[in-house]
Amino acid sequence: MKIFFVITISLISNSCTASFCHWNSGCPYKYFASKSSYDSIRGDIRDSILKLKGCKAISVWGLFRHGKSYPSMNFGREMEDALAIKNYIISSYEKGHSSLCAQDIEDLRNWSIDKKIFSDYNNLTPEGHEELLGIGKRFKEALPALLENLEKDSYTFRPAFGIWIEDSAKAFVKGLKSRNVHIDNALSESDVMAPYLTCGKYQMDVLRNPNVFAEAAKYKANLDYLAAKDRIQRRSGIDYILTDTNITALYDLCRHTWSGVKNKLSPWCALFTKDDLQALEYIEDLKSYYKSGYGSPKSDVFGHIPLTDLLNNFRRTKDDGKKKITAYFTHATMLEMVYTALDLFKDSKPLSSANRDRERKWRTSFMAPCAVNLVAVLNRCVDNEVSDYNVVFYLNEEPIRSICADGICTWKEFEDKLSPFLNTTIDFCEFKSEPY
Ligand SMILES: *[C@@H]1O[C@H](CO)[C@@H](O)[C@H](O)[C@H]1NC(C)=O
Ligand SMILES: *[C@@H]1O[C@H](CO)[C@@H](O)[C@H](O)[C@H]1NC(C)=O
Ligand SMILES: *[C@@H]1O[C@H](CO)[C@@H](O)[C@H](O)[C@H]1NC(C)=O
Repeated sequence: MKIFFVITISLISNSCTASFCHWNSGCPYKYFASKSSYDSIRGDIRDSILKLKGCKAISVWGLFRHGKSYPSMNFGREMEDALAIKNYIISSYEKGHSSLCAQDIEDLRNWSIDKKIFSDYNNLTPEGHEELLGIGKRFKEALPALLENLEKDSYTFRPAFGIWIEDSAKAFVKGLKSRNVHIDNALSESDVMAPYLTCGKYQMDVLRNPNVFAEAAKYKANLDYLAAKDRIQRRSGIDYILTDTNITALYDLCRHTWSGVKNKLSPWCALFTKDDLQALEYIEDLKSYYKSGYGSPKSDVFGHIPLTDLLNNFRRTKDDGKKKITAYFTHATMLEMVYTALDLFKDSKPLSSANRDRERKWRTSFMAPCAVNLVAVLNRCVDNEVSDYNVVFYLNEEPIRSICADGICTWKEFEDKLSPFLNTTIDFCEFKSEPY
């Protein structure tokens, strides 16, 4: 058993060191779907901002997901129950039934919980605060002239409903180091950065509809997932038979106690190989695909709403030159809907429980991690006293090259792309519901 384990792991961790323990694996897998740390996937706008000859950035518009947050109450409770598994793992190791490494066991034994995980449900974590603060700081450094003195009417900062989203907006603004900047209150009615949130029909037909998660549920009967589950059970060597709920809770313990900012490992992650983590990641991709991606019929319609705001914003700024920055703070769901409106991360075949395509484009680890952000920069270019405009889109601080040639959209390309969305309505919502 132990020898088999060594061989599998060293095949998986090809580019890493040859050792197979978690504590010294060198490059542990760090893609945890929507709980991935921003630092695991981000670029750096200070290096990547396109400096175009004769052009000057005159306005920035962006959608920002909140930073890393504590689990919701439901998941938190299951994680808290699963803490008991720690003792099973340790005693199994002592009996010689486990193939975990001595140091990983020692780290697990000595591990202590940050109590806030089970009390500050949904709140922004200190790491989440750092994520948004860092983004604000880097944008300021990349565009110092534009973001230097933000006067009244030159900016909009507005969060969607939720204290962790409001706190994310504050952290971002703090990173900009601009004084006396006002952050709008979240609106209780439908707003551009989260039109689906109060949409009764969407709440009923999608969020409260178990069929939406059918593919994710079916995948748990797929051999791919069952093999991962079996590996986890055997590696831990415990007699306690792990259920799907237990596996999810252990995965959440790993993701929530791993720190991306300090690159600090969690001993809970020692229970999983990279293959196991990829199977668990796929479950999340399936959920998001059918909830707010191409698998849900209204996703692109909701995505039109913020994109219309972007077009109107840049049109106005071209005329009056006032707005320097517009930043909305929201949920991963919104970003996913915007991708579907823009045809980004679109696979030729729908994601399915039957076949995990390792090359798929729809991967929440990259499109919907903590603090994910989609930013458009409006540039004015002057040639022989004639002004021209272009727009560059950035995702997580890297230009999106697939949208327009070399990532630079001419003004016409930009208008052609977004103006079909202008008259989008969400009348189909029928009634207003409370944010869910
Ligand atoms: C494992 O999951 C089951 C439900 O599937 C639950 O009743 C049990 O409490 C969980 N065990 C632990 C230790 O979390
Ligand atoms: C065990 O944890 C304590 C506090 O949580 C820490 O001070 C100590 O250095 C840890 N020991 C090891 C061997 O990691
Ligand atoms: C949007 O509505 C306006 C006014 O009714 C109309 O002139 C325009 O052509 C419509 N645009 C699109 C893209 O449908």
